[in-house]
Amino acid sequence: MERTFIMIKPDGVQRGLIGDIISRFENRGLKLVGAKFLQVPSQLAEDHYAEHRERPFFGELVTFITSSPVFAMVWEAPNAISIARSMMGKTNPVDSLPGTIRGDYGISLGMNIIHGSDSAESAAREIAMWFTQNELTMYEQTIGKWI
Ligand code: RTP
Ligand code: MG
Repeated sequence: MERTFIMIKPDGVQRGLIGDIISRFENRGLKLVGAKFLQVPSQLAEDHYAEHRERPFFGELVTFITSSPVFAMVWEAPNAISIARSMMGKTNPVDSLPGTIRGDYGISLGMNIIHGSDSAESAAREIAMWFTQNELTMYEQTIGKWI
């Protein structure tokens, strides 16, 4: 079983895509185990994007992600990380295929609607950074059994 951190970025929230994106993950069969709507503090934004600290677009990235509220979630499923990444589509809109979230809704590299953890290490790091244990459900114990 795997968990991944997914965040609908300010552009996705402003465009009214929260419901559609949640539906896509629910329809695919992933289970929601945590969610929150928040304006991201600068420190959290900088920590979240720490791997890009030296990149020229780091400042823009932090400014954008803190500009208005985001919708942060944790989804659980077998292979949740790679399934979510494939549902999101490629980062560069030129490569985001139709049928993916970015391929259906995005045309901008910076405003690309959604973030998802890219590895087991980033998922663990990001989930711990964005959520406390109390804010996450143990799906199997509270809702049902994975089959
Ligand atoms: P994310 O972290 O947001 O899920 O996206 P990703 O893994 O697909 O892409 P990543 O390489 O981690 O880049 C993080 C975000 O930075 C913006 N970006 N801008 N101006 C640029 O060259 C550039 N490159 C990346 C994108 O918004 C990307 O989602
Ligand atoms: Mg990334």
